[in-house]
Amino acid sequence: MTERTFSILKPDATKRNLTGKINAVIEESGLRIVAQRRIKMTQEQAEDFYDVHRERPFYGALVEFMTSAPVVVQVLEGPKAVAKYRDVMGATNPEQADAGTIRKLFALSVGENSVHGSDSVDNAKIEIAQFFDAEDIVG
Ligand code: CMP
Repeated sequence: MTERTFSILKPDATKRNLTGKINAVIEESGLRIVAQRRIKMTQEQAEDFYDVHRERPFYGALVEFMTSAPVVVQVLEGPKAVAKYRDVMGATNPEQADAGTIRKLFALSVGENSVHGSDSVDNAKIEIAQFFDAEDIVG
């Protein structure tokens, strides 16, 4: 079943010029990048995006990190895209990520973990709508 998921290439990735290498892993997995934009997240965007983590001890550091340098926001499309991209990303903590995953290959730490991907189809729709207009997604 074709789905869409929302992806962010995080500041640690853009700062190290890794966007092309990460996109290569995404595309080699079979996922298609159907929308993509490089932005500097505002404080408000980052706070809203990570609202579910507001009470977590790392929330402040997370928002600070996500606004510290540009990010690349993306929409990925393909069969079971949400679960597929989570497999391609690997575990949140790169020390626990499987070989060949984006986080194993590139992430620096649990915070600076190079990529975000939606955790459900419903959240993917919400997250995509936070950063893209429907007409900017060309499947
Ligand atoms: P992400 O998929 O973007 O969603 C929430 C983020 O919080 C997660 O990736 C991690 O980068 C970050 N995160 C999770 N746990 C921790 C932690 N213990 N310390 C710092 N950041 C964390």
